[in-house]
Amino acid sequence: MKEIKNICCIGAGYVGGPTMAVIALKNPQIKVNIVDINADRIAAWNGDDLDKLPIYEPGLKEIVAETRNKNLFFSTDISKGIDDADMIFISVNTPTKTYGKGKGQAADLKYIELCARQIAEVAKDDKIVVEKSTLPVRTAEALKSILENTGNGVKFEILSNPEFLAEGTAVEDLLAPDRVLIGGDNTVTGQEAKDALTSVYGSWVPKDRILQTNVWSSELSKLTANAFLAQRISSINAMSALCEETEADVDEVAKAIGMDTRIGAKFLKSSVGFGGSCFQKDILNLVYIAKSYGLQEVADYWEQVIILNDYQKRRFADKIIRESYNTVNGKRIAFFGWAFKKDTNDTRESAAIYVADYLLDEQADIVVYDPKVSTEQIYADLEYLNTHSAEEIRSRVKVVSSPYEAVEKAHAVAVLTEWDEFVTYDWEKIYDEMLKPANVFDGRNILKKDQLEGLGFKVFNIGK
Ligand code: NAD
Ligand code: UDX
Repeated sequence: MKEIKNICCIGAGYVGGPTMAVIALKNPQIKVNIVDINADRIAAWNGDDLDKLPIYEPGLKEIVAETRNKNLFFSTDISKGIDDADMIFISVNTPTKTYGKGKGQAADLKYIELCARQIAEVAKDDKIVVEKSTLPVRTAEALKSILENTGNGVKFEILSNPEFLAEGTAVEDLLAPDRVLIGGDNTVTGQEAKDALTSVYGSWVPKDRILQTNVWSSELSKLTANAFLAQRISSINAMSALCEETEADVDEVAKAIGMDTRIGAKFLKSSVGFGGSCFQKDILNLVYIAKSYGLQEVADYWEQVIILNDYQKRRFADKIIRESYNTVNGKRIAFFGWAFKKDTNDTRESAAIYVADYLLDEQADIVVYDPKVSTEQIYADLEYLNTHSAEEIRSRVKVVSSPYEAVEKAHAVAVLTEWDEFVTYDWEKIYDEMLKPANVFDGRNILKKDQLEGLGFKVFNIGK
């Protein structure tokens, strides 16, 4: 079996950074180089202040502190990284296409193709290329074609090794994964490559959790896992709307069904809607793939998960408007949370962005407090939608550094992210700062409703 001594990871993002840090930690004998075209990102990974790493994940800075410049290196020299490596992970972004064929649904594979072409150009000896990015099923075929047509005689084995970590718990998930999936060809060299990658993970993941499959099953399993997870959230969110009409309580319903071991308790937390860089993108991609094979019913089935999620975000904004005497014009709405979930500074596809956008349509004034998200990120998220001018956004949306500042003279508080600290705030002080009636819209069902109502708040939940 080929022993891996040098790994290169192209893409120093949310996946590449933490994944390679853990691989380096658990394999001190392997040199791991993470490379990226984004010089600012690489500089931040190399920066002295570990509190300013480009990605915030609990436990990450400690691992980077232990491995950086020992066997973990960050660089912009992509060609050197490729040249030195026996195994190359491609962990670049695969966003939804914003142009041309498949616009709004298909995955944009331009960054993947650029990586493949650079590998083909630079490689002088045989390499194992690992798809770490989430890719449409059968992408390995295209990669193989690009890599094999270089004419320089170098042999490439292509593996699919999708990543299942969730943000906010990335380190925890990497240290103790439910499973590691490795797809590759069922040829002699394909098997050798799968075994080489298995041994990298085998230094800390129990063997029975490392699953080897054919490459297409591996690629498709990643899209399937995300589709199933998101589908559970849309299912419980669909029920939340029905609960609000019928006096059933969505948390009680979730508990009751979750105790059925066939259903299971996880991923049944009703919310203002799922966000994050993966669920929507990957389901849209799945929808596109199904359509491209003429499977319209399959496409329609999965598309409904997205339709329901959009409905949930709009429903939350509509409730804020309705309970504010049908107008939020000029009213101050304090947003608690902007990140798409707690314990991350990532805001991609966060429900907060869309709820804010709907409220801006109604000319609300929004004051945002999030413990980890920067002011510029919040403005950039709203400007990216292209529905309101930059001037309007900057005049109507304020970002503050304290929750108590956010609620001064506010008509309502809306909880968009489930940060633990929101529960422990001095809610009596918050009540005193707000205009009356003081409404709280708990989009995450985390606050102590009875306690808040005792203080005088009017509390609105999801699915209650
Ligand atoms: P990201 O945007 O945080 O990072 C991608 C990085 O790749 C960027 O820093 C970018 O500069 C770099 N890059 C792009 N093209 C490059 C090139 N040609 N050469 C060198 N660097 C290049 O993305 P991410 O969140 O880490 O996601 C990466 C992949 O992993 C995606 O396919 C995503 O679907 C998948 N994934 C993400 C998560 C998650 O939670 N974020 C989880 C599982 C899987
Ligand atoms: C997801 C998958 O969980 C992970 O396996 C994959 O690798 C990447 O995509 P991530 O997007 O980081 O991970 O976070 P996740 O915990 O799945 O949450 C996604 C969204 O769903 C968040 O907005 C979260 O708040 C929401 N959510 C999650 C709910 O609304 N209810 C739940 O019960 C669970």
